[in-house]
Amino acid sequence: MEEGSAGALADTVARAAVALRKARHVCVLTGAGMSAESGIPTFRDALTGLWSRFRPEELATPEAFERDPKLVWQWYEWRRELVRQSQPNPGHYALAELARRVPRLTLVTQNVDGLHQRAGSSDAIEYHGNILRDRCTREAAVASRADWSASGLPECAACGAPLRPDVVWFGEPIPSGPMLRAADAASHCDLFLSIGTSALVYPAAGLAEAALGAGATVIEINPNPTDLTPHAHLALQGPSGQLLPALLAALRDG
Ligand code: OAD
Repeated sequence: MEEGSAGALADTVARAAVALRKARHVCVLTGAGMSAESGIPTFRDALTGLWSRFRPEELATPEAFERDPKLVWQWYEWRRELVRQSQPNPGHYALAELARRVPRLTLVTQNVDGLHQRAGSSDAIEYHGNILRDRCTREAAVASRADWSASGLPECAACGAPLRPDVVWFGEPIPSGPMLRAADAASHCDLFLSIGTSALVYPAAGLAEAALGAGATVIEINPNPTDLTPHAHLALQGPSGQLLPALLAALRDG
């Protein structure tokens, strides 16, 4: 990084810290970039993103699961293993600390990896579910697995119906609790932080729009520009695992 651009970034971090110091309710939306530095691949990064190697319509839709549950389960078991082997990064810990330093913070995550919770953000709103949980396809509730399964696929311990990962697939609605809580926070916050998301997938991407519409200050943290960048009041261009701790340090020093 050139000295000039490093100086500009430090200046933007300092301005973001000033905005945070004034904020009464901070709403944060995180996406896959937040966990990139924990070794979990994003979806849309050109070389490393999951959707550059896999087709979402074959793996992440209800139709795909109906067609080939074994294939879908194999893919999710592989992703679960990646999640189990990963650790929260300094960005996750910085956000958990930020929640203790502002009057109110609502954390909404599109990530299904549970890393925010493991870093101490126990009340994170899981907008797209959690990959480590199973859900019963009959009872539509979180379920545990039967010890023995006739089909070779995970089955519900209570009723024997097939289990699926407790995540939101393409074409499915967001669960109403997370959807309502997130919409309420986005439209009532005075500062909105969009971190590590391409801001392309709705309704999550609409949360920043709701915050902008309600007059909140919008700050983005992302190494790459997104559709949100031109509308954000401040854009911190770099990895969240470095910039969030830097933001916390600026907040502490101010
Ligand atoms: P994407 O893969 O679409 O976007 C990841 C974003 O993270 C990109 O804008 C990257 O530039 C940025 N990024 C990469 N490394 C970063 C880092 N170290 N620090 C900060 N940012 C970084 O992921 P999402 O926006 O989360 O949905 O995708 C949204 C949804 O689409 C996902 O929840 C998933 C996916 O299909 C479902 O599975 C329903």
